Amino acid sequence: MKTTHHKNANQSAATGQKRSRNDAGNKVTVVLGAQWGDEGKGKVVDLLATEADFVCRCQGGNNAGHTVVVDGKEYDFHLLPSGIINPKSVSLIGNGVVIHLPGLFEEGDKNEKKGLKGWEKRLIVSDRAHLVFDFHQVVDGLQETERQAQEGKNIGTTKKGIGPAYSSKASRTGLRVCDLLGDFKDFSARFKNLVRQYQSMYPSLTVDVEDQLKKLKEYSERLRPMVRDGVYYMYEALHGPPKKILVEGANAALLDIDFGTYPFVTSSNCTVGGACTGLGIPPLNIGDVFGVAKAYTTRVGIGAFPTEQLNAVGELLQTRGHEVGVTTGRKRRCGWLDLVIVRYAHMINGFTAIALTKLDILDVLDEIKVGVAYKLNGKRIPHFPANMDVLQKVEVEYETFPGWKTDTSAARKWNDLPAKAQNYIRFIENHIGVPIKWVGVGKSRECMIQMF
Ligand code: GDP
Ligand code: IMO
Ligand code: MG
Repeated sequence: MKTTHHKNANQSAATGQKRSRNDAGNKVTVVLGAQWGDEGKGKVVDLLATEADFVCRCQGGNNAGHTVVVDGKEYDFHLLPSGIINPKSVSLIGNGVVIHLPGLFEEGDKNEKKGLKGWEKRLIVSDRAHLVFDFHQVVDGLQETERQAQEGKNIGTTKKGIGPAYSSKASRTGLRVCDLLGDFKDFSARFKNLVRQYQSMYPSLTVDVEDQLKKLKEYSERLRPMVRDGVYYMYEALHGPPKKILVEGANAALLDIDFGTYPFVTSSNCTVGGACTGLGIPPLNIGDVFGVAKAYTTRVGIGAFPTEQLNAVGELLQTRGHEVGVTTGRKRRCGWLDLVIVRYAHMINGFTAIALTKLDILDVLDEIKVGVAYKLNGKRIPHFPANMDVLQKVEVEYETFPGWKTDTSAARKWNDLPAKAQNYIRFIENHIGVPIKWVGVGKSRECMIQMF
């Protein structure tokens, strides 16, 4: 029998033209959180977005909160890629993201009042992305109450409906953008089924179905011009003329559903694999993977945090660093930099370089500690424990550095930094085994020292 199998495997899916593995197309640059979130990903993306053609979100929802300061104006983004500020780039919300439509439009309108122009024309939304409904958000709250009542502790979610929406996706009852834009009668029937399903689990859940459907219909018309087949859109972006494509991670490695501090995590893959599955792009097209890490550690919500400082140091980091959640307004828990977790994030993501942010917050400290290893029963362990009870028990081994006690906020190049700060940075770089490409010393765009 004659087979044409091998010939076809090398052909472009879209045009049928021959393509070799060396001609894989453009590479995407991925920016990922290396701790428990809020490392300053938005700021790093904003910096790179000034030259980008596309900025994409691949996972998470409006649980993320990314602050970007441009020309003294502070914008915060939750669902919109931070690159939306750049009038020359296209922003894309990929299939791996879960979208709460009222939240999306509210966010756009709010930022428009601050001066963001034309965002709806620059936004592309994948037709495969799942929708977060208002009742998912209510259920998120009910689940938290239930956890508190049953286990004596909750997760401390953002109550944005993220867990319930990804649960609907995984249980194959979720509804996607393409469903909303398809036959509305069919969509309505499936929506009603989904509501009934949740009401059987949570009898106290009340949903005004007709009102919800009316609103969804309105949103669908506003959304329609932005919707594309995300896979084909990315394919064209990767295989057209040279393009700069950025992927903005949301949440972070230690909040990843598979690799994070489960169950105190979010419900998506915030590590590098999420870029492929959340956009529909091959691993071959992944280029640089930049890890963003704060010069200390913070965490919002519940869960183990080995280097947490429940003392004056933690309070100082919280107040000096303005460590308050962008999405929930909760105070972030603070502690020393934990290199065990950053190395663990590197094992999973294979960072090609690191952005170390908020060095300036450490400027006033007499001494600075860095967690370098975990010990269990007096013995160093080489891995990051999966079990939260074990993680709660680890003893952290620290390196102590003298503080530089100098204001670094005006530093713009490596040589402007005090020797003791340089020493701190070099130690981190050597310990993780990844070059540090940027050091952040302030909120705005220009406060980022580029090392190479
Ligand atoms: P993201 O979720 O990773 O995008 O980070 P967030 O925006 O939630 O939190 C980071 C916060 O730190 C924001 O308020 C930023 O404006 C701020 N920030 C980022 N980099 C620096 C820095 O180098 N120095 C200082 N002082 N603030 C920074
Ligand atoms: P960015 O992108 C910090 C945390 C929540 C909670 C847990 C689960 O700004 O870094 P969820 O609502 O996702 O079900 O909450 O995850 N969390 C974040 N913490 N920054 C984030 O995003 C976060 N996204 C989720 O606080 O503990
Ligand atoms: Mg944030």
